[in-house]
Amino acid sequence: MKPTAVGGRYYLILLRVDQYAIAQALNIGVMLDVCSSTMMGQSVSKGRLTVKEKLVITIDGPAGAGKSTVSKALARRLSYLYLDTGALYRAFAYKVIEDGILPGDEKALAALCARIELHLDNIDGSLNVFVDSVNVTKMIRCEEVGLVASRVSAVSAVRERLLAIQRQAGDRGGVVAEGRDMGTVVFPMADYKFYLDASVEERVRRRYAELRSQRGSVDYKKVAEDLVVRDRQDKERKIAPLKASEDATIVDSTKMSVAEVVEKMISIIRGA
Ligand code: DC
Repeated sequence: MKPTAVGGRYYLILLRVDQYAIAQALNIGVMLDVCSSTMMGQSVSKGRLTVKEKLVITIDGPAGAGKSTVSKALARRLSYLYLDTGALYRAFAYKVIEDGILPGDEKALAALCARIELHLDNIDGSLNVFVDSVNVTKMIRCEEVGLVASRVSAVSAVRERLLAIQRQAGDRGGVVAEGRDMGTVVFPMADYKFYLDASVEERVRRRYAELRSQRGSVDYKKVAEDLVVRDRQDKERKIAPLKASEDATIVDSTKMSVAEVVEKMISIIRGA
């Protein structure tokens, strides 16, 4: 390893092999760029890595805007942790459904907050979420859980319960945090904030295609209705509503591919 200081920032040139493990051990971030010759004003040779201080990058936006795909891709590009905060709300909602709690029953939700055990674990590079030691990562991906997550996320006791877990996961930096209030509430001091949006029609189209590929037959009208309901719930709730942080860069992905969105974000992060 050869540390070099450039323009007040410290870089380490590492071999590609074991880059993530080394970066984790050193508690520093890794920026991987095997194609480009210039990064943040610093020359990088092909096939090598530029490692820089760990950043906190937030991506907020409505359902179906492509946040998960873009956040995962960006985290992979930077060798950062991908923090899917929606998965925490979904995991909580999963338990709400399992325990037969009504999403509007604030007393029962507060009691659940006191007894539920939630934790995140990075298994083979992907984030898994556990409820009372059960891995629910795959079980929380349906629309029913999404809608209940949206309902219970309006309750302050629930938001408070999940806040500490999110901050703990991201406080060492080197994270791409995705959700609804990442830039406004959870990581207000984030280094880069993005608000990813797309037209309602395009978001419905994407969500429909995603669900169809998972389940086969899906009702387009129902997908559209659920998305509109979720938009309204997430934007109109009193606590931490979905909105762009004042210092966020708004990216409209309606006519952009995932790769284009990621490139745009990378170029902003590089200051290009
Ligand atoms: O991103 P998602 O669709 O998995 O999120 C499910 C719901 O969880 C979303 O409709 C609102 C809630 N949520 C939230 O309130 N705050 C977050 N940071 C993430 C999700």
